[in-house]
Amino acid sequence: MADRYLNFTGTAPGRFLTRRLGLPQPAELRRWSAEYPSFEGVVLHLTAGEPKHSAELAEVLGRTGLDVRTGLDVRTGLDVRTGLDVRAEVEGPSESAARPAAIVLDATAVADVTGLAQVHAALHPVARTVAASGRIVVLGSPVSRDDHHQAAAQQALEGFTRSLGKEIGRGRTVTLVRVEGPVAAAESTLRFLLSPRSAYVSGQVIEVTAAETTAPADWARPLAGRTALITGAARGIGAAVAEVLARDGARLVLLDVPSARQDLEALAARLDGTALPLDITAADAAERIMDAVPSLDTLVHNAGITRDRTLAKMPADRWASVMDVNLASVLTTTDALLKAGALNRGGSIVATASIAGLAGNAGQTNYAASKAGIAGMTRSLAPRALADHGVTVNAVAPGFIETKMTAAVPLFIREAGRRMNSLGQGGQPVDVAETTAWFAHPASGSVNGQVVRVCGQSLLGA
Ligand SMILES: NC(=O)c1ccc[n+]([C@@H]2O[C@H](COP(=O)([O-])OP(=O)(O)OC[C@H]3O[C@@H](n4cnc5c(N)ncnc54)[C@H](O)[C@@H]3O)[C@@H](O)[C@H]2O)c1
Repeated sequence: MADRYLNFTGTAPGRFLTRRLGLPQPAELRRWSAEYPSFEGVVLHLTAGEPKHSAELAEVLGRTGLDVRTGLDVRTGLDVRTGLDVRAEVEGPSESAARPAAIVLDATAVADVTGLAQVHAALHPVARTVAASGRIVVLGSPVSRDDHHQAAAQQALEGFTRSLGKEIGRGRTVTLVRVEGPVAAAESTLRFLLSPRSAYVSGQVIEVTAAETTAPADWARPLAGRTALITGAARGIGAAVAEVLARDGARLVLLDVPSARQDLEALAARLDGTALPLDITAADAAERIMDAVPSLDTLVHNAGITRDRTLAKMPADRWASVMDVNLASVLTTTDALLKAGALNRGGSIVATASIAGLAGNAGQTNYAASKAGIAGMTRSLAPRALADHGVTVNAVAPGFIETKMTAAVPLFIREAGRRMNSLGQGGQPVDVAETTAWFAHPASGSVNGQVVRVCGQSLLGA
């Protein structure tokens, strides 16, 4: 639904008035479109401390097709390789293509307080120069169990990135990626973060393992030849997931309750997929899915409902219906499909949590419990599903997303939900869909057990 405040602040009088009144000034986010598939400006590759992965990172960034500049001398602002004076070049307006679209800071070698000073030195002169809707991606290392100085420094990066995300403004996002092994394993993650697809993901810490990954034949259609089943696909976030996975080349099976058949069939016809009208809580749901889809690569558990009441006023049936749809059916179908070997090796399961589940929310003990349960399932099952079945398990945790679900929220709470995040606006269903597509990507085999919030760095549960 339309965000009138965001539209208003995008106009000259709106900008003037909101600045004068000290009101939030959300920037319109630049998302993926066929006309804007990737960033236009340069990507600065910086290093803090002794470069550990520099050559490897340069290679990965080089493959993205982005205009990557390395070797910036932060004291002079001069790029020693290209001779480009970054600070002089970025004097123009914040939307200027001459500004860096993104900065990638390799902080993997930072192991003490001196190393942290180098993080400051690297980003201090250039952080403000990043274009509107741009990115800062910090690469870190896993936190050591044996070296408490390294652990302190690497944990410090978490507080650092989250704080920078909150202050940077203009639709710019900041993310920390912890790489356990070769940087090449993080290629799909870096491509996602350094693209307009990740517009509403900020303040996140993503862990990438050393697991081997499979590069797709075509990075523009990474899901070609793969089949994905999406539950709750008739509308809202599920329908957006269907659109994005179809764009990325997947064959689709779209599942929703029989009463949504008309919308489901219309979407399936438009995306050249198959409609499967089925209540996911039905006792035979898993069998019916396996009958309809003999070979499945990606299972997206998106169907979800709310039945809000404070606990004292919540009858057992309201508790049970939310638990059945949001959690029990996810556990049951996941178990049945994995046990039957119905998910192909190299495949993925993407479940849907919620920031309400991570933060808690008054009137939502049932919903929050079900969504926190999704996070628990994801973290526990992921290593076993990968070891036993070659399948990753991850979850998206949407924040305030503009859908029918949030349109039903009372005006005041809705407005608070929209603004109480670092980007000052609600997300779009497509933002959750893009994150789902990154999890489903064949090169994301190293991304496992992650619960990634798509929330514009919401203050809830931060
Ligand atoms: N919109 C948000 O801000 C937000 C925030 C956090 C999490 N989420 C989660 O994202 C998911 C999608 O949310 P949405 O906003 O698109 O909701 P929505 O209500 O617009 O869509 C949910 C879809 O799930 C389907 N569904 C419900 N019960 C089903 C069942 N038993 N079997 C099959 N399909 C069923 C519905 O028919 C509907 O098409 C949900 O899991 C929701 O909890 C949404």
